[in-house]
Amino acid sequence: MDKAALGAFYDRIAKQDMAPLWESLHVLVSQEPATPVAPVHWSYSEAIRPALMESGNLITAEEAERRVLILENPGLKGQGAATNSLYAGMQLLLPGEVAPCHRHTQTALRFVIEGEGAYTSVDGERTPMSPGDMVITPQWTWHDHGNETDRPMVWLDGLDIPMVRFFGSSFAQGGNTAQQPISRPVGDSRARFASNLLPHGWERSRAGSPIFNYRYADTRPALATLARNDTPDPHFGHRMRYIDPTTGGDAMPTMAAAIQLLPQGFETRPTRSTDATIFVVVEGEGESRIGDETFAWQPHDVFVAPSWAWRSHSAKSEAVLFSFSDAGVQRHCGLWRQELANPDKENV
Ligand SMILES: [Fe+2]
Repeated sequence: MDKAALGAFYDRIAKQDMAPLWESLHVLVSQEPATPVAPVHWSYSEAIRPALMESGNLITAEEAERRVLILENPGLKGQGAATNSLYAGMQLLLPGEVAPCHRHTQTALRFVIEGEGAYTSVDGERTPMSPGDMVITPQWTWHDHGNETDRPMVWLDGLDIPMVRFFGSSFAQGGNTAQQPISRPVGDSRARFASNLLPHGWERSRAGSPIFNYRYADTRPALATLARNDTPDPHFGHRMRYIDPTTGGDAMPTMAAAIQLLPQGFETRPTRSTDATIFVVVEGEGESRIGDETFAWQPHDVFVAPSWAWRSHSAKSEAVLFSFSDAGVQRHCGLWRQELANPDKENV
């Protein structure tokens, strides 16, 4: 191999926008997932909440359009992303404020952290939000938020922004009015789609679940019943997925969301999977081992597990963790893999 001749060749073809694959093959096609995403943890009480409340004194929701602090992965600086494919941010809506109506091709989930009774409007229907609710605004649906209560409202926004950027398929549009006209009463979509029934003649008009609000008032008793009636799965505790009831698939096409209860003193066995995952602590205290790092967490903290990093959780008190990832997209593409440490026979 004539290194000087090769170097000259590389320089020459670079000017014609070509490059030798043999110099980068093992980076482009790595033997195992190689990711810039770092394990990271944000404390709600010490980091997120103080900064969010400070932002409330500096800019109004209307001025900001959305008053959100991006939870940016330190391995993805400047990209506004929590993982390669997903975005997470913490949004504050103060009493009397409106986050004006808009729509975009990105799908969003809201996981409610603090406050009670502010609303999200989607497709002409308002849904009041309570802590632990997961509210979804499917792609290209008009949505706005309003807080008519006397307390601040905080929720985590999870969006597929980096994924949509990757595909080059971002479109957005502002509404004509700050608040969209309301055409259906509170509870309408719940009655139609969350009662194990479907309206006669209903036909799907877009991807994803027609339910807007997966209420914690329903989720929590379901978890409690599982915890009473089952022994916990050694790797996941008592874990349930948020589904589109019309298909049994994930509630959103680009984001797979789940919630798990870990009994007091329970420690999960390590797992790893190819979907980098964003966790939100709903209840309880404990710690998680993510790769080489250990994070102690409390309610409302957020942490990220990168692709293929080993992860395990231990609960000091009974704990509930909400999580979301791009697992559904990976499964659809035949890419998703998982490894379970010390699997039980019944768990293989
Ligand atoms: Fe939005």
